[in-house]
Amino acid sequence: MKLPFMVMIYGAVGVAALCLATHPPGGRWVPPIAIVSAKPVAAAKAAAPAAAPATATSWSVPDVDKLPGDAWGKLVRLGRDLTVATYAHIGPEVADPAKHYAGNNLSCQNCHLGAGAKQFGLPFVGVFADFPQYRGREGRVGSLEDRINGCMERSMNGRALPLDSTEMAAFVAYIKFLSTGIAIGAQTSGRGAGDIPRLTRAADPDHGKLVFGQTCASCHGQDGQGKRHGPLGDAAGYEFPPVWGPDSFNDGAGMNRLISGANFVHSNMPNGTVWSAPALSAEDAWDVTAYLQGQPRPARAHLENDFPVRLQKPVDAGYGPYIDGFDRTQHRLGPFGPIEQKIKELKAEKSAGAPPTATPGRS
Ligand code: HEC
Ligand code: HEC
Repeated sequence: MKLPFMVMIYGAVGVAALCLATHPPGGRWVPPIAIVSAKPVAAAKAAAPAAAPATATSWSVPDVDKLPGDAWGKLVRLGRDLTVATYAHIGPEVADPAKHYAGNNLSCQNCHLGAGAKQFGLPFVGVFADFPQYRGREGRVGSLEDRINGCMERSMNGRALPLDSTEMAAFVAYIKFLSTGIAIGAQTSGRGAGDIPRLTRAADPDHGKLVFGQTCASCHGQDGQGKRHGPLGDAAGYEFPPVWGPDSFNDGAGMNRLISGANFVHSNMPNGTVWSAPALSAEDAWDVTAYLQGQPRPARAHLENDFPVRLQKPVDAGYGPYIDGFDRTQHRLGPFGPIEQKIKELKAEKSAGAPPTATPGRS
């Protein structure tokens, strides 16, 4: 079930600003939530009156270190370690070439922040309860393993983990553990990366370049290449990950789509930012993300095979073919409103003239 709206109450400067955003078709469902402090969530909860509304965000993540040292506890902890230091286990610089599954030296945690436990930092919390699910990108129902391999092949620019590998079992066990107590079909408030208001103009990469220089380059470098922990070949990953270039995610990754990327940046960057107290304006987040996505990065072959049901292609997919008449530039930069309107019309025409199709799924 999808609700048509989400409500966020920011209390950054003691004055609550109310932001009411329209839910995008195909976007992430976010339940109505009320967060009323720029302080860390724990502090806000401590200060909240006993009669706080039942919809107030509760965010509790089970503690991996409290698990016993049995086979299950060990596997879950391996999943955590793989998430935090992917490069040291299955990266391109590890000693055993058979383990070179990831094609870059990122970690899952570089995007799934806080080892997959951060609210609106693309958390793994609740994800176990949402699979298998229909996937528009593949045009079929896919498993959690398929989804993990989607990130292996795109975000990590590598190859799929074998389904019977210990590493795959460990990722699934860890994601299951983080989803403890979340019922199948339940929605997890704080999943995804948020839903900032859309722009009515195209995002402006030139302005984004200025924002990048002022707000991002201190960590990610003016050249976007980040900062390694140590020398090339040490399989020790990054202190600050690259945001473009040969060791970054490829052009088929979710982080390379403007709506996904801008929400991630707005809720989480500069690193340490929490979604309830964003550092960037929404406009700056759109522009800076458009800038970094416009820089060179590895190319994934056969992207034209993604989203075989073309009407289910997300408006911000940066690669064709498109059937809505809008060009690649508008799909990359927006504005997305006119594209969404056109797709709505095409869907209505189709359902008027043809038998109903499957429910469109998440991208
Ligand atoms: C460059 C950033 C990046 C990296 C690195 C990355 N991912 Fe992802 N991942 C994403 C994005 C973006 C999504 C889409 C989230 C959404 O649909 O809102 C995603 C989605 C997922 C999902 C589904 C989450 C959900 O809410 O349905 C899983 C599971 C996942 N990734 C696992 C992994 C694993 C395991 C790794 C490491 C092997 C990894 N990812 C590395 C960016 C990344
Ligand atoms: C204080 C240092 C710092 C600043 C400033 C900063 N970042 Fe990051 N960024 C990080 C770190 C560290 C990570 C990885 C987080 C982790 O592994 O826990 C990250 C992750 C990312 C990622 C996902 C991983 C990847 O490599 O693609 C993107 C995209 C990103 N940052 C964009 C930005 C943008 C855009 C800005 C400016 C608005 C920015 N960052 C400012 C430190 C920073």
